[in-house]
Amino acid sequence: MQSYPKAKVLIDQNQFSLGSSEPRDSIPSFYVGNVPIYGRATLSPMAGVSDSPHRSLAKDMGSAWSFTEFVSAEQINLENPKAIRLFHFKKEENPVWFQIFGNSVESITIAAQRIELLNPKVIDLNMGCSVQRVSQNGSGAGLLRNLPLAGKMIESLCKFTSVPITAKIRIGWYNDDLNYKETIHVLQESGVAAISVHGRTKEMAYTGTANWDAIAEIKDFANVPIFGNGDIDSIGVLKQRLFDSKVDAVLIGRAAIGNPWLFSGIEKSSLTISEIHNVAWRHYVSMKEFYEKDSFILFKKYFTKYFDLFEDYKDEKDRILRVRDEIEFEESWLSSVEEYMNKFGLYYIKQKRPA
Ligand SMILES: Cc1cc2nc3c(=O)[nH]c(=O)nc-3n(C[C@H](O)[C@H](O)[C@H](O)COP(=O)(O)O)c2cc1C
Repeated sequence: MQSYPKAKVLIDQNQFSLGSSEPRDSIPSFYVGNVPIYGRATLSPMAGVSDSPHRSLAKDMGSAWSFTEFVSAEQINLENPKAIRLFHFKKEENPVWFQIFGNSVESITIAAQRIELLNPKVIDLNMGCSVQRVSQNGSGAGLLRNLPLAGKMIESLCKFTSVPITAKIRIGWYNDDLNYKETIHVLQESGVAAISVHGRTKEMAYTGTANWDAIAEIKDFANVPIFGNGDIDSIGVLKQRLFDSKVDAVLIGRAAIGNPWLFSGIEKSSLTISEIHNVAWRHYVSMKEFYEKDSFILFKKYFTKYFDLFEDYKDEKDRILRVRDEIEFEESWLSSVEEYMNKFGLYYIKQKRPA
């Protein structure tokens, strides 16, 4: 195999957190390579969503590890500061997994060598992104149509970095040609340490429902840890998926936006508006600390989800979402929750008006 010189270090390592957080339990749930993992549910990587403040909160609430969103190998190699910034993390987030995407063995290997200096515990290759500009370019889910290339990438990443290498896949590109068996086989042969499986095809994108039978089948024949993913939206479903499919862990994406309690085993519907508000506010404050400006605009996507169960709050929430000024956003949020509590009671809040 071709050898790659160590990439020149131009990334300022001092901007990044090092070290690792203390494990919650003394016995790991499982290992990914030599990395012990405590817990069986984690926040799925989501571009523009699973940033450091979100991951820290999820981790604090019980998420087993922290996945960054996917970052382009090309942009890492160009040292685009916006791309590099996506790897900022707090030590409490550990074990942190960096996710990258690309369509060339050389570029992905050099990018991985660069980011390895920032101390991720694991590097993950994205093989699932269905967005056209990524997948049509041969990256993301595009690799499902070029398994020899995917295999070479994993082999090279394993050879030229010293952290475990994992991959996140879909069950195929075409609905009528599910190639997950071959994909798993190629990745395992290439040295992958674990595989996350989103139970949809690239053609499905986010339509239909995730195929958990395929995920269970993969778990049955694979010889590395398997993480199932797709459509988990409650603690009941989470437990059922773990139990039925026997996967080592599950990833939760969309449903965890505004519901980090999924990682603590608490049904959000059992919480009062004040309990939800307190966590939402903490999330918002950590975004203000992390982003230099416009954090309130970025926070709106979480805000709407945090308060989604409170029907009587909907009009007020919609009004707050239209606010364009930070101070006004904060003041209206705080006063509206207080008003709501005065009107409907401090503790149990009626979440749905009886018909
Ligand atoms: C807004 C958004 C951004 C996403 N970005 C990524 C990403 O960067 N990397 C990745 O592997 N998957 C990404 N995904 C896919 C999710 O990780 C997950 O596989 C998918 O949403 C299915 O899980 P869910 O049903 O629990 O949401 C993204 C999904 C969403 C909705």
